[in-house]
Amino acid sequence: MISTLHSRRSGADGDPAPRLAYGADYNPEQWPRDVWEEDVRLMREAGVTVVSVGIFSWARLQPGPDTWDFGWLDEVMDLLHAGGIGVDLATATASPPPWLTTAHPEILPVTANGETLWPGARQHWRPTSPVFREHALRLVREIATRYRDHPALVAWHVNNELGCHNVYDHSDDAARAFRGWLRARHGSLDALNHAWGTAFWSQRYTDWEQILPPRLAASHPNPTQQLDFKRFSSDALKDHLRAEREILREITPDVPVTTNFMVMGGTRGMNYPDWADEIDFVSNDHYVHPGPQDRDELSFSASLTSGIAGGRPWFLMEHSTSAVNWQPVNVAKRPGDLARDALLHVAHGADAVCFFQWRQSAAGAEKYHSAMVPHAGADSDLFRAVAALGATLKTLAPVAGSEREPAPVGILYDWESWWASEQDSHPTSLLDYRQEALDWYSALLALGVRADLVTSRADLSRHRVLIAPVLHVVPAELAKELTRYAEQGGHLVTTYFSGIVDENDHVWLGGYPGALRELLGIRIEEFGPLLPGESVELDDTATGTLWTDRITLADPDTQVLAHYRTGVHAGRPAVTRRPTGGGSASYVSTRLGVDGLAALLPRLLEPAGVHGELPADVRGKVELTVRRAAGARFLFLVNRTDDTVEVSGPAGDVLVGTGTGTGTAAGGVVLGPREVAVLRQPAG
Ligand code: GAL
Repeated sequence: MISTLHSRRSGADGDPAPRLAYGADYNPEQWPRDVWEEDVRLMREAGVTVVSVGIFSWARLQPGPDTWDFGWLDEVMDLLHAGGIGVDLATATASPPPWLTTAHPEILPVTANGETLWPGARQHWRPTSPVFREHALRLVREIATRYRDHPALVAWHVNNELGCHNVYDHSDDAARAFRGWLRARHGSLDALNHAWGTAFWSQRYTDWEQILPPRLAASHPNPTQQLDFKRFSSDALKDHLRAEREILREITPDVPVTTNFMVMGGTRGMNYPDWADEIDFVSNDHYVHPGPQDRDELSFSASLTSGIAGGRPWFLMEHSTSAVNWQPVNVAKRPGDLARDALLHVAHGADAVCFFQWRQSAAGAEKYHSAMVPHAGADSDLFRAVAALGATLKTLAPVAGSEREPAPVGILYDWESWWASEQDSHPTSLLDYRQEALDWYSALLALGVRADLVTSRADLSRHRVLIAPVLHVVPAELAKELTRYAEQGGHLVTTYFSGIVDENDHVWLGGYPGALRELLGIRIEEFGPLLPGESVELDDTATGTLWTDRITLADPDTQVLAHYRTGVHAGRPAVTRRPTGGGSASYVSTRLGVDGLAALLPRLLEPAGVHGELPADVRGKVELTVRRAAGARFLFLVNRTDDTVEVSGPAGDVLVGTGTGTGTAAGGVVLGPREVAVLRQPAG
């Protein structure tokens, strides 16, 4: 679907062949009219095929409650169409205009502390405000009706990064909606009182009206109330997404609808696996956070986005050509980074590569954020790199529409466990769910073993090994599914603080790891979290931090893969495995970090017969991903290092190489620093 967006309405160039889309957010309202002509000319020069327009245009499109100004947008749409560029048209509801917030301050979000988030930035609206909803939907209807037949329109872009700044609203509107959501989830007050464990601290509710969002409280708010509020807040935004989508589908049933997710860094408020079915294709925004694992994190996020999209192609709606403006220090990308970052997303299933934004702003909060056309103008290394990437993407057209080929290893990423495991009043406040999952991914990258991030909605049996780090929330059904997986030959690996609670955050009694105790064949009576700076040694030379467990073997078949050598549990098991018919279930009781996991993983992968697919000398230096289509496999080889690497082995035509260093050597591929090559093999 994404690969033909440019031709939906047959643009001026009318090329119906599938290809990878290329473009950016385009904000022409920030520029005088004569710049627009130059924009379209430069877009064509850069190979741009699609732009997202109108994301923050509400104040411009609707200057007052009953006044509309579409003339400028008509002209922009016509110009883009004449240039053969498709438009992913925004519903423009992301940032309400001053006239609306002045007339209706009751649409503004309220923090847990009772502070109002005032206008002056963006996204200052309550997802549950009926007043906001009414105004937003009116705008959506106006825009959809006006542009329903415009030939440039290729897709709808609902709002923008729903929940980026307003996911947790504690207002009275939110309280009302939360009560309605709780009634639907729990059915009765008795059921809610049970689920929330309100026998504790005298919290029993006798009327729905007594229930509030978890506002600033005297001590730790009820944990299940917090967990339900997280679920509710994600659902409230999803409800807004649906409301906009319904209008778009009514008016333009043939135009696909998307909204841009933020699968990156610490963004956890929106349960995206649960949103994916609401849209016609998944879109994601990703920004690199400089640091030792920065490109691992990019690969991890791209793989997770692919998992959310069910392995189907997805749309990279935003990333940056170079620096951003919102980090403490905003580092420019190095030569080669722009293309490598973009193609790493493509390697993981992106069929579109777009940036924030087309032309770097001269004013406003994001004026130091990079763009496709920088402040220096088109006569710049950056614009030349942008145009080169456009040409590369054109060459990669055969990849468009291909899906990800399942990797031998799956890493289960579970939003509920993410939310619940990091709540307060736990054995440690230092647990970082995403970091633990990322460390496993980094360790697999270091070993050159392909791994896919998957969600709990995926078919887990596609992976010979399933790693489920900190799988904290395990409802009875999931425990059964994992048991089936291991009994039918799968190799499950899980870690500390897994299997501990059910969907209501109630502890599974009888010893940890609760719901997974029998499957893992171990029993733990008490957790042993470590203080900051404290560590323990294992007898295989690894070092553990954050957590330990006092493990007793509870099944005669359970084997010990490593013991603690130091600490209070010295001599006791640290890593275990229980064979289960054709498969196994392993448990890692401490935090080993990337190096420790890379040292342990070969032993965990060995019974599944999983190892690196590239030659041993380049494992860890080159990331391999595979996309496949009917008749072809596409191998993406991404040089993770700053050195030249020669990969002998993989056969196939070199479809594309991003740098001058890329070329075929005898029986292989040479990748210059940070370069990428894409090989095509016949499938089968
Ligand atoms: C995104 C947002 C864009 C822009 C970008 C800057 O969160 O959708 O509008 O602000 O970040 O990195």
